[in-house]
Amino acid sequence: MISKIISEEKTNIIEEVNLASKKEAGDTIQKLDKTATMYTYASTEKGNVKVKLKLSDEKIKKIQEICQLFNNEAGELINVLHQTQHALGYLPAEVQEVIAHSLNVSTAHVYGVVTFYSYFTMIPKGRFPISICTGTACYVRGAEKVLEEFKRQLGIVVGETSADGKFSLSCLRCVGACGLAPVVLVGEKVYGRVSPDGVKAIIEAYKDK
Ligand code: FES
Repeated sequence: MISKIISEEKTNIIEEVNLASKKEAGDTIQKLDKTATMYTYASTEKGNVKVKLKLSDEKIKKIQEICQLFNNEAGELINVLHQTQHALGYLPAEVQEVIAHSLNVSTAHVYGVVTFYSYFTMIPKGRFPISICTGTACYVRGAEKVLEEFKRQLGIVVGETSADGKFSLSCLRCVGACGLAPVVLVGEKVYGRVSPDGVKAIIEAYKDK
Protein backbone atom coordinates (compact mmCIF):
# COMPACT_ATOMS: atom_id res chain seq x y z
CA MET A 1 0.00 0.00 0.00
CA ILE A 2 1.22 3.46 -0.82
CA SER A 3 1.11 5.38 2.40
CA LYS A 4 2.04 8.74 1.09
CA ILE A 5 3.19 10.31 -2.14
CA ILE A 6 5.17 13.44 -1.63
CA SER A 7 7.30 15.80 -3.61
CA GLU A 8 10.12 17.59 -1.88
CA GLU A 9 12.14 20.06 -3.85
CA LYS A 10 15.05 19.98 -1.47
CA THR A 11 15.58 16.26 -1.25
CA ASN A 12 14.38 15.38 -4.72
CA ILE A 13 12.40 12.55 -3.26
CA ILE A 14 9.24 12.28 -5.21
CA GLU A 15 7.65 9.15 -3.95
CA GLU A 16 7.61 7.71 -0.47
CA VAL A 17 6.24 4.25 -0.39
CA ASN A 18 5.39 2.28 2.69
CA LEU A 19 6.62 -1.03 1.41
CA ALA A 20 9.07 -3.54 2.76
CA SER A 21 11.00 -4.23 -0.44
CA LYS A 22 12.47 -2.17 -3.23
CA LYS A 23 10.98 -4.44 -5.84
CA GLU A 24 7.50 -4.04 -4.43
CA ALA A 25 8.00 -0.28 -4.35
CA GLY A 26 9.25 -0.21 -7.95
CA ASP A 27 6.34 -2.32 -9.16
CA THR A 28 3.85 -0.04 -7.45
CA ILE A 29 5.38 3.11 -8.85
CA GLN A 30 5.51 1.61 -12.30
CA LYS A 31 1.78 0.97 -12.17
CA LEU A 32 1.36 4.68 -11.58
CA ASP A 33 3.93 5.84 -14.08
CA LYS A 34 4.47 3.31 -16.85
CA THR A 35 7.08 5.40 -18.64
CA ALA A 36 9.48 5.61 -15.72
CA THR A 37 12.41 3.35 -16.39
CA MET A 38 14.67 3.57 -13.38
CA TYR A 39 14.41 4.25 -9.72
CA THR A 40 16.82 4.94 -6.94
CA TYR A 41 15.98 4.07 -3.39
CA ALA A 42 16.80 5.04 0.14
CA SER A 43 15.43 3.79 3.41
CA THR A 44 13.73 6.31 5.61
CA GLU A 45 13.95 6.48 9.38
CA LYS A 46 10.56 4.81 9.55
CA GLY A 47 11.78 1.97 7.34
CA ASN A 48 9.80 3.15 4.33
CA VAL A 49 11.33 3.12 0.88
CA LYS A 50 11.88 6.41 -0.90
CA VAL A 51 11.81 6.27 -4.66
CA LYS A 52 13.29 8.74 -7.11
CA LEU A 53 12.20 8.36 -10.71
CA LYS A 54 14.68 8.72 -13.52
CA LEU A 55 12.98 10.18 -16.54
CA SER A 56 13.30 8.28 -19.78
CA ASP A 57 15.15 10.01 -22.65
CA GLU A 58 11.90 9.99 -24.56
CA LYS A 59 10.15 11.87 -21.79
CA ILE A 60 12.94 14.44 -21.50
CA LYS A 61 12.81 15.00 -25.27
CA LYS A 62 9.06 15.50 -25.11
CA ILE A 63 9.39 18.13 -22.37
CA GLN A 64 12.15 19.93 -24.28
CA GLU A 65 10.01 19.96 -27.42
CA ILE A 66 7.15 21.56 -25.50
CA CYS A 67 9.51 24.22 -24.14
CA GLN A 68 10.76 24.89 -27.66
CA LEU A 69 7.19 25.36 -28.88
CA PHE A 70 7.17 28.38 -26.60
CA ASN A 71 10.66 29.48 -27.65
CA ASN A 72 12.04 28.50 -24.23
CA GLU A 73 10.68 31.76 -22.87
CA ALA A 74 10.46 32.07 -19.12
CA GLY A 75 7.26 34.13 -19.48
CA GLU A 76 5.55 31.10 -21.03
CA LEU A 77 6.08 28.93 -17.97
CA ILE A 78 2.36 28.42 -17.27
CA ASN A 79 1.64 27.42 -20.86
CA VAL A 80 4.59 25.03 -20.81
CA LEU A 81 3.34 23.47 -17.57
CA HIS A 82 -0.16 23.09 -19.01
CA GLN A 83 1.10 21.33 -22.12
CA THR A 84 3.52 19.16 -20.19
CA GLN A 85 0.87 18.02 -17.74
CA HIS A 86 -1.43 17.31 -20.66
CA ALA A 87 1.30 15.19 -22.28
CA LEU A 88 2.66 13.39 -19.20
CA GLY A 89 -0.27 13.44 -16.80
CA TYR A 90 1.57 15.10 -13.91
CA LEU A 91 4.54 17.28 -13.00
CA PRO A 92 6.92 15.57 -10.58
CA ALA A 93 10.14 17.24 -9.42
CA GLU A 94 12.24 15.67 -12.20
CA VAL A 95 9.94 17.09 -14.88
CA GLN A 96 10.08 20.49 -13.22
CA GLU A 97 13.88 20.37 -13.32
CA VAL A 98 13.94 19.82 -17.08
CA ILE A 99 11.51 22.70 -17.60
CA ALA A 100 13.51 25.00 -15.30
CA HIS A 101 16.70 24.19 -17.21
CA SER A 102 15.09 24.73 -20.63
CA LEU A 103 13.46 28.04 -19.68
CA ASN A 104 16.51 29.16 -17.71
CA VAL A 105 14.61 29.78 -14.49
CA SER A 106 15.17 28.34 -11.02
CA THR A 107 13.57 25.05 -10.03
CA ALA A 108 12.21 26.84 -6.96
CA HIS A 109 10.31 29.21 -9.26
CA VAL A 110 8.80 26.35 -11.25
CA TYR A 111 7.91 24.53 -8.04
CA GLY A 112 6.27 27.71 -6.69
CA VAL A 113 4.04 28.01 -9.77
CA VAL A 114 3.13 24.30 -9.80
CA THR A 115 2.11 24.36 -6.15
CA PHE A 116 0.28 27.70 -6.43
CA TYR A 117 -2.26 26.57 -9.03
CA SER A 118 -4.52 23.74 -7.94
CA TYR A 119 -4.86 22.64 -11.58
CA PHE A 120 -1.28 21.38 -11.58
CA THR A 121 -0.47 18.10 -9.91
CA MET A 122 2.75 16.41 -8.87
CA ILE A 123 0.97 13.12 -8.28
CA PRO A 124 0.25 10.69 -11.11
CA LYS A 125 -3.46 10.37 -11.70
CA GLY A 126 -5.25 7.06 -11.64
CA ARG A 127 -6.33 5.29 -14.82
CA PHE A 128 -9.83 6.51 -14.07
CA PRO A 129 -9.53 10.00 -12.62
CA ILE A 130 -12.68 10.91 -10.66
CA SER A 131 -13.49 14.61 -10.40
CA ILE A 132 -16.32 15.96 -8.28
CA CYS A 133 -17.69 19.36 -9.26
CA THR A 134 -17.82 21.61 -6.22
CA GLY A 135 -19.10 24.66 -8.09
CA THR A 136 -22.00 26.55 -6.52
CA ALA A 137 -24.90 24.63 -8.09
CA CYS A 138 -23.33 21.25 -7.33
CA TYR A 139 -22.34 22.33 -3.84
CA VAL A 140 -25.87 23.49 -3.04
CA ARG A 141 -27.24 20.15 -4.25
CA GLY A 142 -25.01 18.03 -2.09
CA ALA A 143 -21.64 17.63 -3.85
CA GLU A 144 -19.90 17.62 -0.49
CA LYS A 145 -21.72 14.47 0.63
CA VAL A 146 -20.99 12.80 -2.71
CA LEU A 147 -17.31 13.65 -2.30
CA GLU A 148 -17.27 12.25 1.24
CA GLU A 149 -18.75 9.00 -0.05
CA PHE A 150 -16.10 8.67 -2.79
CA LYS A 151 -13.40 9.27 -0.17
CA ARG A 152 -14.93 6.64 2.10
CA GLN A 153 -15.38 4.04 -0.61
CA LEU A 154 -11.94 4.49 -2.16
CA GLY A 155 -10.05 5.07 1.08
CA ILE A 156 -8.23 8.08 -0.35
CA VAL A 157 -8.51 11.85 0.02
CA VAL A 158 -8.61 14.55 -2.66
CA GLY A 159 -5.31 14.62 -4.53
CA GLU A 160 -4.48 10.97 -3.90
CA THR A 161 -4.44 7.90 -6.12
CA SER A 162 -5.62 4.47 -5.01
CA ALA A 163 -2.86 1.93 -4.32
CA ASP A 164 -3.76 -0.11 -7.41
CA GLY A 165 -3.31 3.01 -9.58
CA LYS A 166 -6.88 2.82 -10.78
CA PHE A 167 -8.68 5.79 -9.24
CA SER A 168 -7.64 9.29 -8.26
CA LEU A 169 -9.81 11.92 -6.68
CA SER A 170 -9.98 15.63 -7.40
CA CYS A 171 -12.43 18.52 -7.23
CA LEU A 172 -13.41 20.82 -10.05
CA ARG A 173 -15.16 24.14 -10.37
CA CYS A 174 -18.30 24.41 -12.53
CA VAL A 175 -18.06 22.19 -15.60
CA GLY A 176 -21.00 23.89 -17.31
CA ALA A 177 -23.59 21.20 -16.62
CA CYS A 178 -25.30 22.85 -13.65
CA GLY A 179 -28.70 21.48 -14.71
CA LEU A 180 -27.36 18.03 -13.85
CA ALA A 181 -25.93 18.99 -10.44
CA PRO A 182 -24.32 17.40 -8.58
CA VAL A 183 -21.96 16.37 -11.36
CA VAL A 184 -19.12 13.83 -11.27
CA LEU A 185 -16.64 13.15 -14.07
CA VAL A 186 -14.81 9.87 -14.50
CA GLY A 187 -12.26 10.65 -17.17
CA GLU A 188 -14.36 12.30 -19.89
CA LYS A 189 -17.63 10.64 -18.90
CA VAL A 190 -20.16 12.86 -17.13
CA TYR A 191 -22.46 11.55 -14.39
CA GLY A 192 -25.34 13.83 -13.42
CA ARG A 193 -27.59 14.06 -10.35
CA VAL A 194 -25.23 11.86 -8.40
CA SER A 195 -26.28 11.00 -4.86
CA PRO A 196 -24.11 9.40 -2.17
CA ASP A 197 -26.10 6.21 -2.74
CA GLY A 198 -25.07 6.18 -6.41
CA VAL A 199 -21.33 6.37 -5.72
CA LYS A 200 -20.82 2.63 -5.28
CA ALA A 201 -22.34 1.84 -8.70
CA ILE A 202 -20.07 4.38 -10.41
CA ILE A 203 -16.96 2.84 -8.86
CA GLU A 204 -18.16 -0.70 -9.60
CA ALA A 205 -18.52 0.17 -13.29
CA TYR A 206 -14.72 0.61 -13.52
CA LYS A 207 -13.55 -2.06 -11.08
CA ASP A 208 -12.99 -4.79 -13.68
CA LYS A 209 -11.71 -2.57 -16.48
S1 FES B 1 -21.62 23.96 -10.56
FE1 FES B 1 -21.28 21.90 -11.07
S2 FES B 1 -21.67 21.87 -13.18
FE2 FES B 1 -21.97 23.93 -12.66
